[in-house]
Amino acid sequence: PVPVIAIDGPSASGKGTVAARVAEALGFHYLDSGSLYRLVALAALKAGLAESDPRVVDIARHLPAAFEAGVVRLSGEDVTDAIRSEACSVMASKVAARSEVRDALLDRQRAYRRPPGLVAEGRDMGSVVFPDAGTKVFLTASVEARAERRYKQLMEKGLPANIDSLSQDLRERDERDASRPVAPLKKLPDATELETSEMTVDQAVSFVLDLVGA
Ligand code: CDP
Repeated sequence: PVPVIAIDGPSASGKGTVAARVAEALGFHYLDSGSLYRLVALAALKAGLAESDPRVVDIARHLPAAFEAGVVRLSGEDVTDAIRSEACSVMASKVAARSEVRDALLDRQRAYRRPPGLVAEGRDMGSVVFPDAGTKVFLTASVEARAERRYKQLMEKGLPANIDSLSQDLRERDERDASRPVAPLKKLPDATELETSEMTVDQAVSFVLDLVGA
């Protein structure tokens, strides 16, 4: 079977950066599953739908999404920044809590598994989407370290940021992700935990590459 490296972890743990770098180093395909939930959320917001609307499931099933060279498109429109907005993040976590939405995105995610291999990143890559992945990593960092990273990102973009409210928001999202009935975020028994609070991105990338024997 085509090899899969599943990297799951909480919000702002740095798994996106690490996963993209590992994929690049190995020449593997890369799946940022969170962006699919964000795209469903954006399309639902644009259509004025509530998260519980049955039409949200149709959106997930027929999502006109495209990814190329760091640009995310919805029906051809560049929505790379739009899917990162706070409103979209909140809606994403709501639509992601619906099992029909998750089911509707399954085949699309599995289609990314093509030779020579895939690095898939999210909350349920190792548990639901690719349970037979040869490598499973649970990538975490303390709330303080994650809030600090997000703070720096926002400052670099010249956006307003407050450490305390970022920490509070992360704690709430952790709680919601871990306690939801469908695909709750948890460390799997067969996953290797990587605690990155004191690590640089390079160190985390090297750790994963060592793990797969690259
Ligand atoms: O890391 P962050 O929370 O900022 O965002 P993300 O990874 O882009 O995920 C966006 C939303 O989709 C989150 O609320 C997750 O709970 C959800 N998600 C999910 O349920 N399953 C995945 N495999 C990936 C993301």
